Amino acid sequence: MNRKMIFLNLFFILIIFSCNTNYEKFEKSIFSPDKSLELKLFFNNNKLHYEVVKDNKIIIEKSLLGIEGEIADYKMGSDFIVNNISYNNKYEKWDQVWGEQKTITNHYNEIIISGKFNYDYGADYKIKFRNFNDGIGFRYELESPENSPTADNIPTTIYKNKKDIAVVTNELTQFNLTEDSNSWWIPAYAYRRYEFLYANTKISEISRQNFSDLVEYLNPDDRIGPEAVQTPFTIQRDDGITIAIHEANLTNYSSMALKVDGTKLECDLFPWSDGIKVRRQEEKIISPWRTIIVANSPAELTMTTLTLNLNEPNKLTDTNWIKPGKYIGLWWEMIGTNQSTWGSGPNHGAKTDRVLEYLDFGSKYNFDGVLVEGWNTGWDDNWCCSGDGGKFDFYNTHPDFDNKTVAEYAEKKGIRLVGHHETGSQIANYESQLDSAFAYCNRNGIRVVKTGYVNDGVQNIKRKDENGKIHKEWHHGQYMVEHCRKVLETAAKYNVSLVVHEPIKDTGIRRTFPNMLSREGARGQEFNGFMPKDWNNKPNHTTIIPFTRLLSSPMDYTPGIFNLTDYRYNSPEDRTINKSHHIPSTIAKELALYVVIYAPMQMAADLPQNYEGHPAFKFILDVPTDWESTITLNGEIGEYITVARKDINSNDWYIGSITNEKEREMNIDLSFLDPNTLYKATIYKDPVDGGWEQKPEEIIIDEITLSSGDNYKFKLPKGGGHAIKLTPNP
Ligand code: NOJ
Ligand code: CA
Repeated sequence: MNRKMIFLNLFFILIIFSCNTNYEKFEKSIFSPDKSLELKLFFNNNKLHYEVVKDNKIIIEKSLLGIEGEIADYKMGSDFIVNNISYNNKYEKWDQVWGEQKTITNHYNEIIISGKFNYDYGADYKIKFRNFNDGIGFRYELESPENSPTADNIPTTIYKNKKDIAVVTNELTQFNLTEDSNSWWIPAYAYRRYEFLYANTKISEISRQNFSDLVEYLNPDDRIGPEAVQTPFTIQRDDGITIAIHEANLTNYSSMALKVDGTKLECDLFPWSDGIKVRRQEEKIISPWRTIIVANSPAELTMTTLTLNLNEPNKLTDTNWIKPGKYIGLWWEMIGTNQSTWGSGPNHGAKTDRVLEYLDFGSKYNFDGVLVEGWNTGWDDNWCCSGDGGKFDFYNTHPDFDNKTVAEYAEKKGIRLVGHHETGSQIANYESQLDSAFAYCNRNGIRVVKTGYVNDGVQNIKRKDENGKIHKEWHHGQYMVEHCRKVLETAAKYNVSLVVHEPIKDTGIRRTFPNMLSREGARGQEFNGFMPKDWNNKPNHTTIIPFTRLLSSPMDYTPGIFNLTDYRYNSPEDRTINKSHHIPSTIAKELALYVVIYAPMQMAADLPQNYEGHPAFKFILDVPTDWESTITLNGEIGEYITVARKDINSNDWYIGSITNEKEREMNIDLSFLDPNTLYKATIYKDPVDGGWEQKPEEIIIDEITLSSGDNYKFKLPKGGGHAIKLTPNP
């Protein structure tokens, strides 16, 4: 064969492989690398369904795929023409800049279905399904047909005014569970975003009425959206298999809630104020990955890396400025003890001298940062909680706060300020100052900023359109998704990392932008600060979030309160103790939370005076925030959990164990330790007759020797905890 013939033959072969087959009907399946999980796809009558099988049990039965809308007048829906099916797989290891573990394995089998939607003018689609050992992810990639500019004669059915090039009006993805399992959930479309206690009901019992009856009352305004739950949404089947539904890489799209009907769930996208779910100004839409995390047990569930694996690799070329660490803050005096104010007045917290005292304390104990809230102006104008307050200023300081003196002192003391940007959810105001705000941080040695979006209205994020008209958006709609990305990217430009309060939910973006440190995004310690006994976090709350909220990302829970009773004043002016406040925890549990709840930037939340001279403070000073590896040793959702983590910079291990309101005997197998080493174990525990109601502020510190051959037994009293530092014996 001459060269020309070879070329022609190759050309012919290529044509055969790429020629469009129109599949009429098929059943295909791919397995996870360890074969435990099967993803099945069914195509018939132009409909595409998927099913998930775990160890031969169907855990998600035939569920519809589809997405409605238009891209440049080309239509999308649930009628597909399938032209191509291809397979792929990947095995790689990648390193995190910081995290619960250094190295992550990305191992999956993939099937890609592509073609066009079955309409006169159908858009092109590709659906990618990846099957990992810890679950399944799939996403839609949609665009107008290549080389087919919008034809003038195509009827525009949705956006006659052509305001948007592409719109999603509904995503039809279903998750049809096969059993009415136990589930843990918080409602979507409710005023406090994610800041709720979790309800625990059968899936079929999910409803706002039940939430109101069982957890806390949702007023009529909280019931304007569909009956839906937020993700990660976690269920545990009778056979123990534990499943969480969530999403990965939420970019240029709106967040997914799950509409519930019996045991059938359906993707429910938070809409824009005009009802459109997603809008794009290009002929392309890529959905986030829909994720189904699957594990044999709740403990295994917490070790998933699926969400991170489904995000893009790190985009920041230089990450040397991103430093995990610990911080204290001029914060609990406002939120917890109620002795200071954010705004002006005699009790204003952020006064220069007070800040210098915090810097002294922080530097004495080698903290990386001191958070100062109330350093700027805007707090005096009814900032909370409607999104209607006066305008916060993000680079002009309050007259009480002498920035120059503070910045110079911090530098001298070798410590940094943690900046604070409470936006009150006035997005336009914040965006108009973004560059200057982060340039200010950069100039003043501020490397981490805590942002905040307090706004307790229901659909209440105000967006001004090009004509100056105000529209009210949802906290989790595309408007906020795009805003949050803009802030993250601007922060990165100025070498600033973020800790976000009242965030949109995390979907693993920290892999792509490792300056995204942690988020609040659930009820944190603050609810123990300002809420009276009946309304604070219950002892079981921290035994639920590792299996729900924490599946999505690190959390700025802000543990470490030592003064658990009689801590709150009636008001900054009336300094008598308000007896209706009590933090449902113990000092030992507060310490254990540093291991149980991962955050790369961890706060020691109490006042310096409650730490100074306290023997348990040593644990907070020792515990790292960047880990070589993590193992969840045991756990039942809402009951207890034990997590072990190995320091990235030494051979030390840390173990944290917590319980709900029940006492229990624990027994942990230490075989994960190095078999050739004896460890000095420093143990921080509650007295056996202690617990959150009895002696919460008493702590016993012991030293023993442990090794990998030991089964270590201990008792957790009601609402208590147990924290251990293990150091190889010299
Ligand atoms: C709510 C945040 O969660 C809290 O940490 C902060 O202090 C206040 N907003 C004020 O920004
Ligand atoms: Ca909050």
